[in-house]
Amino acid sequence: MSKIHAAITAVNGYVPEYILSNKELETMVDTNDEWIVTRTGIKERRILKGEGKATSDLAVPAVKGLLEKRGISAEEIELIIFCTSTPDMLFPATANILADKVGAKNAWGYDLQAACSGFLFGLTTGAQFIESGKHKKVLVVGADKMSSVVNYQDRNTCILFGDGCGCVLLEPNEEGNGLLDAVLKTDGAGEPFLHIRGGGSLNPATHETVEAGLHYAYQEGRTVFKFAVTNMADVAVEVMERNNLTSDTVDWLVPHQANKRIIDATAERAGLPEEKVMVNIHKYGNTTSGTIPLCLWEWEDKLKKGDNLILAAFGGGFTWGSIYLKWAYTKS
Ligand code: UT7
Repeated sequence: MSKIHAAITAVNGYVPEYILSNKELETMVDTNDEWIVTRTGIKERRILKGEGKATSDLAVPAVKGLLEKRGISAEEIELIIFCTSTPDMLFPATANILADKVGAKNAWGYDLQAACSGFLFGLTTGAQFIESGKHKKVLVVGADKMSSVVNYQDRNTCILFGDGCGCVLLEPNEEGNGLLDAVLKTDGAGEPFLHIRGGGSLNPATHETVEAGLHYAYQEGRTVFKFAVTNMADVAVEVMERNNLTSDTVDWLVPHQANKRIIDATAERAGLPEEKVMVNIHKYGNTTSGTIPLCLWEWEDKLKKGDNLILAAFGGGFTWGSIYLKWAYTKS
């Protein structure tokens, strides 16, 4: 019997309507369009506006659309892995909240927190349940409402992030397509350089923690940049080499969208021309767990059955990794 792989059989995405442009940011902090575009590649990002709107509200339209595309009901989903750094609340898990909102009555689920590498960690974890034969339909969601943790008075971070959600359905595949390899890493020594220190058990929310801004995302950009450039490229090349893939046989690089310069450096190390690299950072900025599935969603029409995809990410933790995925369908 041929080995069962976990293949993506449907992908969908959702970004909120409101566009936060570089021009508007110029009115909020001391920055300018030229600096943002040349240093990051970002022109605009989407923001979820409205009282009472949370990360699960980004996921609901994405998941409903995915179910419709695949022609299945929410009750058929067996497991939901919700990758996010901005859960609706500390508990219950956003996976539970999503299941309730979309009517996934037969699913169990949990949240997975690995910052910008969240989707890769979630995809790898979800694949285990398919490969073992335990489940046949696993939903992996990558969503973040980054605007809920961004300090719009801090020009170092507020220009970078946006809100968005991408999701995929994993199902068994016996044709040799699906998730074929993964290298995932963590290094807790990265904590000082990228974190949200308030609101957890270390610094429970108080007037003091709020006044000190501990509930906001903090990043020492230059240090994170150096680690990201090296590590993201290293793992992407490692996965390519150990699967005997070359720049000719890789069809697509799907990089985490944190900075266009990091994407370009990774593509260059992998020897891949820009036509093979998915880039939408100019439109959405860094949506943390959302970036990679949002790329897959936007490029779905161009993907062909059997295409070799290399996914790669680096983020807070530090966390980083790369996945080799053989695409399982051509959209009709
Ligand atoms: O997804 C999670 C992982 N995160 C990443 O991968 C992000 C990694 N880091 C980065 O992408 C970049 O480091 C940033 C885009 C965050 C910053 O770019 P940089 O080229 O590393 O700039 P820098 O932090 O070294 O700052 C250079 C200068 C500084 O001024 P001085 O000290 O040279 O006078 C900053 O104060 O640019 C200044 N600066 C700005 N100027 C205009 C910082 N932010 C801004 C801004 N507008 N928004």
